Amino acid sequence: MANTRISYNSNLLHNIISPEELQQFNDAVAVAETALVKRSGPGADFLGWLNLPATTEKSTLVAIDAKAAEIREKADALICIGIGGSYLGAKAAIEFLSPSFEALRKPRVFFAGHSINSDYIADLLDLVTERSVAVNVISKSGTTTEPGIAFRVIRQWMEKRYGSKEAASRIIATTDPCKGALRQLAIDEGYATFPIPEDVGGRFSVLTPVGLFPVAVAGISISDLVAGAADAMSFCKGHTVEDNMAGRYAAIRNILFRKGYTTEVLANFQPQFHFVGEWWKQLAGESEGKNNTGIFPATLDYTTDLHSLGQWMQEGVRNVFETFMVLRKTRHTLAVPEFTDDSDNLNYLAGSSFETINENAYRGTLLAHIDGGVPSGVLSVDDRSARTLGQLFYFFEKAIALSGYMLRVNPFDQPGVEAYKKNMFALLGKKGSAELAAKLSLRIGGLGL
Ligand code: PA5
Repeated sequence: MANTRISYNSNLLHNIISPEELQQFNDAVAVAETALVKRSGPGADFLGWLNLPATTEKSTLVAIDAKAAEIREKADALICIGIGGSYLGAKAAIEFLSPSFEALRKPRVFFAGHSINSDYIADLLDLVTERSVAVNVISKSGTTTEPGIAFRVIRQWMEKRYGSKEAASRIIATTDPCKGALRQLAIDEGYATFPIPEDVGGRFSVLTPVGLFPVAVAGISISDLVAGAADAMSFCKGHTVEDNMAGRYAAIRNILFRKGYTTEVLANFQPQFHFVGEWWKQLAGESEGKNNTGIFPATLDYTTDLHSLGQWMQEGVRNVFETFMVLRKTRHTLAVPEFTDDSDNLNYLAGSSFETINENAYRGTLLAHIDGGVPSGVLSVDDRSARTLGQLFYFFEKAIALSGYMLRVNPFDQPGVEAYKKNMFALLGKKGSAELAAKLSLRIGGLGL
C-alpha cells in the first residue's frame, strides 16, 4: 500500500448525508470508474492522464531533468508562456513547493501569456533585461491567442537581444508531438521541444512536460512528483467509497449538488495553496460546467478571506458546500513573543506557534460554518513536498473525472470556451467572420458598449 499523504474526511457530513445514502452511491462510483478504466465513457480519447504516473518512462524524466539542468546553467530567468492547462499546473507546483518570495528562488520562473496586457509583458521584459533569459512556450494547439501574441513579442525581444541563432537555442517549445503551428515553428526555427501526449488535455497535463519542465527548472524533483501521483493511483481506484478516495469525494460532491448545494468552495489555510486552488478551479470548472449543469468551483484563502468573504460564508445564500484543504506540517515554526506591556492583549498567545493558532482558526471556522449551514469535508495534506503534491494532483484529476461522469457530462472537452473566441475573432477582423462582426457591431452599438 502506498504511503498515503493525503486523506479526505467526510464524517462531518453525516447529518446531511447518512452513511446509507453514501453507500447507495457506490453504484455510481462503480459505473464511473468502469467507464474510465474501460475507456467506454465520453471523451475516452483523452484518458492518457489516467495511467501517466505509471507509464511515464524514467528516460522521459531524465531528458526533462537534463534540459532543465542545461537551462539552470545557462539562464537565471525562464519565461513560461501559456494559459489555462498550459500554465496553471506548473504555477501551482512552483508556488506550493518553493520559498514564498520569487526573489528567493533561483533561477526564477516567470509566467506570461495568461492574460492580454502590455504592461505585464513590458514590466517582465524590463525585469529580465539584466538577466540571462530562456523561454518555454507551451501550447498544445499552438494557436491560442494569449500565449501566441505574448510569444510574438517575447520572441522578437529574444531575437533582438541574442540574435536569431542564440535566441532559438534558448527557446523550448512544449506542444503536440506531431501537428500544429507551434510544432511547425519549432521545426523551422530549430527549437528544442517536448511533446504533449495527444490523449492528454490541457487541464490534465500537469504531469506531462507541460508541468514537469518548468517545475524541474525551478529545482523541484519531478521524479517525486510523478511518484506521488503513482501512489495516488493505488488509493484512487476501486468501486466503493471506502476503497476509492477520489470516488468518495466525487460521490459527496454529487450528492450535495443534488441536494441543492451547487457551489463548492475549496478553502485553504496556507498562502502556498493559492495556485493549487486556481489549478483545481480550472480542472473542475472546465470539466463539469456544461449542458447547463455543473458544480461551480470557487476558492478561498483563509484566514485572509475570513476578513472579507467570511461573512458571506457564514450567513449568505445556503447553496454552498465547503472542502477545507488543510496542511498538516509547515516548513518553519514561529512562536509569538511575549511583551510586558501587552497593549494588544495578545500575551495569552505568547509561546504559541503560528501553526497552533492557525489550526485553531481552522477548527473554529469549520465548526462555525457547519453551524451556519455549510456542509463541510476536510482534505488533509501532510506537507509541502513534491511527493505529497503529486498525490494531490492525481487525486483531484481522478475525482473530477469521476464526478463529471456522475454528472453525465464529458469531462474532457470544453466546447463552451469557443463562444467568446468566435466573437473576439470576428470583432478583431479575422478573415471569414465579416457577417458575424457586422451583427456584433450592431449589438454593441445598441448596448452602448
Ligand atoms: O484545459 C484545456 O484544454 C485548456 O485550458 C487549454 O489548456 C488552454 O486553453 C490552452 O490551450 P493550448 O495549450 O492549446 O494553448
